[in-house]
Amino acid sequence: MTEKTKTYCLINYGCQMNESDTEHYAGQLEEMGYAPVSDFHIADVIVVNTCCVRESAEKKIAGKIGELKAVKTKNPDVVICVAGCMAQKDGEKLLKKHPQVDLLLGTAYVNDFKQVLQDYLADRKGGAYTDLTVHQSEFEGQMVRQSPFAAWIPIMYGCNNFCTYCIVPYVRGRERSRSVENIVAEIEAAVREGYKEFTLLGQNVNSYGKDFGEEEAFAKLLRRVDRIPGVERIHYMTSHPRDMSEEVVKAVAECEHICENFHVPFQAGSSEILRRMNRGYSKEKYLALIDLIRRYVPDAAITTDIIVGFPGETEEDFEETLDVVRRVGFTSAFTFIYSKRSGTPAARMDNQVPLPVKKERLNRLMALQNENSLRCHQQLVGKTVEVLAEGPSRQADVWAGRTRTGVLVLWPVEDKKYEVGQKVKVLLDAAQTWLVKGKAVD
Ligand code: SAH
Ligand code: SF4
Ligand code: F3S
Repeated sequence: MTEKTKTYCLINYGCQMNESDTEHYAGQLEEMGYAPVSDFHIADVIVVNTCCVRESAEKKIAGKIGELKAVKTKNPDVVICVAGCMAQKDGEKLLKKHPQVDLLLGTAYVNDFKQVLQDYLADRKGGAYTDLTVHQSEFEGQMVRQSPFAAWIPIMYGCNNFCTYCIVPYVRGRERSRSVENIVAEIEAAVREGYKEFTLLGQNVNSYGKDFGEEEAFAKLLRRVDRIPGVERIHYMTSHPRDMSEEVVKAVAECEHICENFHVPFQAGSSEILRRMNRGYSKEKYLALIDLIRRYVPDAAITTDIIVGFPGETEEDFEETLDVVRRVGFTSAFTFIYSKRSGTPAARMDNQVPLPVKKERLNRLMALQNENSLRCHQQLVGKTVEVLAEGPSRQADVWAGRTRTGVLVLWPVEDKKYEVGQKVKVLLDAAQTWLVKGKAVD
């Protein structure tokens, strides 16, 4: 009798870095002979990859881990692993609260997951792996990627910035860059598998290579990746406005495959709030960077992250945030209500802003940004753009894809056949807040 194939289910929360780590877990599980299933009730191994950047994320994830209790009761052999930032932050505390969890895998153990799991299966002794100093930044294994054409490529791990509101440096450790050779080898291998679009990931990509002591290492890396045959689109995130150099902007302007979108979180418009956030730039410096980007890349789409209700934020401070949003005209923005993260300096600051005030500010900010998004999209109407097809939209006879600048485009299939990852020329004819519609022209 043949043995039944063992299965795994991955449940991912959080940012692109987590998505990338999850693809790495999938790769290691498949190397061990496991096959994916989407229903965690029937899996032999369940990995929940967690995020703790805001309280709302943590609450949602705690609920999901709670659901796994019944799964463990029904099937005591199932292996439940909680990985990622919340595992790193809470450690043993999380194991005590959720005894159904067998393994806790901190953020420095992504490469070692296979070994940790093998050890566990041998003796069924679980525990917490949360040492932050063991991390290796080079990587050789296999990835099982979600998309058939777009790949996440981590170029560095950790963060040294310690923005006063943010938990990430505490749960991801210090900055460590991957070598250029290791990055290029992964991209070349992905190209051989048919990948076309690459997003270089790091919490602050502009400090890539500083740990090697190299000047302008990120701009050099961009130019190097641009030369890899078969690479069609390159994105990168996230850029820190303090560290983004003219050389990087120039590289984007000059390299054929680097897309004209700049994700530059400004977080707050008031220079005083920025100072207390420890962001290392003022409102004026941020606006000067935007001018620089527009000078080199006039058609660039600029996107951002914004926090409302940082401790001590007054109505006047918030008006400065609205002023930046009005002046820059972001194509889109991720907007967040400040969430107190214990252990960070901002959590101990006086004058925490009441929730109703934060909510009201968020609503005003979102209304303004929606007008901006619509205006940016209206400016595209009448243009023919290159779209990378992602697949059918909610309607099967309408396909969806993205422009080089990341704008979502929908077009009717009519009598044509498209493939995921295919380049399609679309003439845009109608703009909405979240997307632009058009017709394929070839
Ligand atoms: N390293 C990236 C992204 C970090 S997390 C960067 O520096 O931009 C993504 C976003 O979450 C941040 O840009 C910030 O806007 C938001 N964020 C981080 N901590 C937060 C907190 N405590 N409350 C609300 N939003 C937060
Ligand atoms: Fe957090 Fe700031 Fe680091 Fe981004 S740069 S991860 S916001 S500490
Ligand atoms: Fe990402 Fe959340 Fe961790 S945003 S770095 S998964 S805390």
